[in-house]
Amino acid sequence: MKTMFMAEKVFLVGGKIEPPYFIGREQEIKKLTQDILEEAQINVITGPRRIGKTSLLKNFKSAVEKELLFVPVNCLEMTDLTDFFRVTTQALIEAYEEKHRIKGLARKYSGIFRNKITAAYGPLTEIGGSIEHAGNIYLKFLESELKEEALIQETFDFIESFSNEKKEPLIIAFDEFQELRRFNGSIFNTLKSRMYRPPEVRYIFSGSSISFMQKVFLKPDSPLYLTAARTELKPIKEEDVKKYIKTRLATRRIEISEHALEKIHELTGGFPFYFQKLGILLHQEAFLEEKTRIKAKDVERVFAAMLDELDSEFEARYTENFSDQQKKVLKYLSAEKQKHLNQIALDMNTPASSLSTSMRELYGTMTISKPKKGLYEITDSVFRLWLKRNILRQGQE
Ligand SMILES: Nc1ncnc2c1ncn2[C@@H]1O[C@H](COP(=O)(O)OP(=O)(O)OP(=O)(O)O)[C@@H](O)[C@H]1O
Ligand SMILES: [Mg+2]
Repeated sequence: MKTMFMAEKVFLVGGKIEPPYFIGREQEIKKLTQDILEEAQINVITGPRRIGKTSLLKNFKSAVEKELLFVPVNCLEMTDLTDFFRVTTQALIEAYEEKHRIKGLARKYSGIFRNKITAAYGPLTEIGGSIEHAGNIYLKFLESELKEEALIQETFDFIESFSNEKKEPLIIAFDEFQELRRFNGSIFNTLKSRMYRPPEVRYIFSGSSISFMQKVFLKPDSPLYLTAARTELKPIKEEDVKKYIKTRLATRRIEISEHALEKIHELTGGFPFYFQKLGILLHQEAFLEEKTRIKAKDVERVFAAMLDELDSEFEARYTENFSDQQKKVLKYLSAEKQKHLNQIALDMNTPASSLSTSMRELYGTMTISKPKKGLYEITDSVFRLWLKRNILRQGQE
């Protein structure tokens, strides 16, 4: 129950983001809807970390769920092929349950992943149909009558027979798809063999590794090279960011200067996670200090505090994900918004040609982008400013 003490939040990070907190992306949702409802069987969404991929999927779900059953699947929850079966089938049953307001299906089904085998049969027989079939398959696997590999095939069999049985077209949306790169390629080959069937089932694959997505979907020699439609997620437009911040602060009677709004966009690079978080901190400060107007200087100060908060996360990102040479590239690249390859090579005192593998890999994980030929930039502007402050400067002392 809402009480007068639980005021609506000003900005929002995490959880399900809906309007008015969810902004922009009209074009992306329109394109995805068009692709999904009319043509492509596969949609590939790529975008760097924190750009808003998961939020886009959630809002796309609201846009199409009348026509189709939308099934979000989080690949982060999968560490082996058994998980691929478990997480995907479970997500499908849960989505169906939620949409049609049926209770108990998912709970009964999930017994096979928890209970003693003997206890799992009863509830499965009660449900019957394709769910019972999938459950029995899994029990066979537990009794070693089936190889783990076969579970991939069975996952797709279940998706198709469930859709058939319920006369319901489906979209399966695999989020964080790059997590499956450690699995053997048989997932992708199985997927391929399924894609030419009548399209009652459509797939979305969303991820933050361009190189992996390209390897699997977009190159002519890749396992799933077909008419995959592609959406590349970009930062939110400056006008939209400014309008959003201004309107949200206005709900608390706080004004903000045009210059401060520009600063917010510039520092966050239009990455939604960062402008929401900065918004929270700015509002907090204004509230505590009883300020009614925010200026560019305030934004700069609060932004520095945000970098402090992100310290351990960026520290881990920097130390764990890159080779020594890649770290050096990032360090020197962080000095400017954009840099020429030749300048980076000069800074590092090495020929440009010796950097090509590092540059390709950094590009493949969307850590850096190429605004023009020979010109590079760190995709995540906040990460760049953190590197500049914590790594570049440190090195110079
Ligand atoms: N369109 C949007 N409008 C406003 N805020 C957004 C939007 N998209 C995302 N956000 C904000 O950014 C946060 C992170 O978004 P989200 O989790 O969707 O990004 P992601 O690309 O999936 O990130 P990751 O790579 O970490 O999975 C959200 O919690 C929300 O605060
Ligand atoms: Mg995500």
